[in-house]
Amino acid sequence: MKILVQKGKLQDNKSQAIILAMFQDQKKLTGTSLSVDQASHGLISGFLKNDDFSGKPSQIAVIYTCGAIPAQRIALVGLGKKSEVNAERVRAAFSKVMQYLRNINVKKAVTYLDFNLLPREKNKIVQAMVEGVLLGLYQYTPYKTVGREDIREMEQLNIVADESKYSSVSAEVKEVQTIVDAVCLARDLVSTPANEMTPSILAFKAKEIARRNNVTCKIIDRAGMKKLGMNSLLGVAAGSKEEPKFIILEYKGGKKDKAPVVLVGKGLTFDSGGISLKPAEKMDEMKSDMAGGAAVMATIIAAADLRLPINLVSLIPATENMPGGLALKPGDILKSYCGKTIEVINTDAEGRLILADALSYASIYKPAAVIDIATLTGACVIALGDDLIGMLGKDEKLKAQIKKAAKSTGEEVWELPLWDNYSELIKSDIADYKNTGGRVAGTITGALFLSKFVGDYPWVHLDIAGPAWSGKDKPYIPKGASGVAVRLLVEYLRNT
Ligand code: BES
Ligand code: MN
Ligand code: ZN
Repeated sequence: MKILVQKGKLQDNKSQAIILAMFQDQKKLTGTSLSVDQASHGLISGFLKNDDFSGKPSQIAVIYTCGAIPAQRIALVGLGKKSEVNAERVRAAFSKVMQYLRNINVKKAVTYLDFNLLPREKNKIVQAMVEGVLLGLYQYTPYKTVGREDIREMEQLNIVADESKYSSVSAEVKEVQTIVDAVCLARDLVSTPANEMTPSILAFKAKEIARRNNVTCKIIDRAGMKKLGMNSLLGVAAGSKEEPKFIILEYKGGKKDKAPVVLVGKGLTFDSGGISLKPAEKMDEMKSDMAGGAAVMATIIAAADLRLPINLVSLIPATENMPGGLALKPGDILKSYCGKTIEVINTDAEGRLILADALSYASIYKPAAVIDIATLTGACVIALGDDLIGMLGKDEKLKAQIKKAAKSTGEEVWELPLWDNYSELIKSDIADYKNTGGRVAGTITGALFLSKFVGDYPWVHLDIAGPAWSGKDKPYIPKGASGVAVRLLVEYLRNT
């Protein structure tokens, strides 16, 4: 799908469809809509008299022009009330109208860039439009063999911009496209079934990513982990025949001596629960338990392709959690990379085990900040539902930066307290910690467990168990893998 910026007049465009976004309380046509209306001898104003379309959020109407103007159709899409419109509304509207046009087999459409569509955030209109279009049109089809000819694809959207804005808008479209490409790569990695997205394959994908300028990749294999003493990660890997991989991606875009930001992503390519086996229902969705890892891999891509002036490291401990003959057993005790001991109460609380070693390992970078991203707890889905990212940490500055990036991208975070008193719940009788604290405050005790392995650096934990995978279509996230946190992290990095 190509997005091109062009000059010229919308009403002269020969496209299959002209897209016009409209407010709900818009009394009169103005600007470009008015020009298109006049050129078509009142097609739009005439249509609007019928009350078929009121401009409610993401409402769509298609008017056939029957030769009145060169374009075949005019597609109206609602943004809701002007006083309520925001970037999320714009993303949703452009996603929905493009999906609609794709459904009726339109391949090429054109729209006009109107900064007034987002009156209070004019500088975000290009980003919101392009994100809505590209994220909404995503589909994952490599495994469909029957009826492939029925898979519809949009080919091109042209955005008509004023002469004076042409080059700045073109540059911005390119930037947004770079970021969305990274999000879609994360979605692809997560969507790929676990038999074809093993830790080894994920590591191979990381090597591919590192073909870029200023990006390098190092893989620590099982033997290397043994040497380093990453026994917590090795413990989780013990039940699987798939080789675990500790994936390290480094991007150097900043001054040599500048401390990097380190991102740590949970890379469970499949979480069966291990000996504490999960129920069968929805276990298939546990191929998405590497969504954090996918997000931090994609973020490195975006940072490198945008040539951000920063140093960045992504660490992805990758393994399966399986109930093989050598698997961890409840009651087993592991000595982690930093030396602290862990009593494994429940083998399904495996994410924190592999992250513990990765978080301790992060110290060797003397990082400016560490953010870990993980589908860590079902409790987070119960607490916050499937839209919100849970955020826990003590560093107020880092949390504020993440909140700001979350607001700006629509990938919203909600803070839960890292309540020290609950550390009691993860004290072990015979080891330093146990890996679960029981049913209460599951997201908090998960984060508290991680905090015991965090080094001397600012740290925040993001629990993406809710939004990483969507069981239903969301406005610009088709059902399945969302690629969540990539846009959030890139925005955070751009602001640092
Ligand atoms: N990967 C799961 C968490 C999860 C659940 C993510 C549902 C997405 C959707 C994690 O490894 C897990 O199993 N956590 C346990 C922890 C418990 C045993 C303390 C959970 O949430 O039940
Ligand atoms: Mn688990
Ligand atoms: Zn898991």
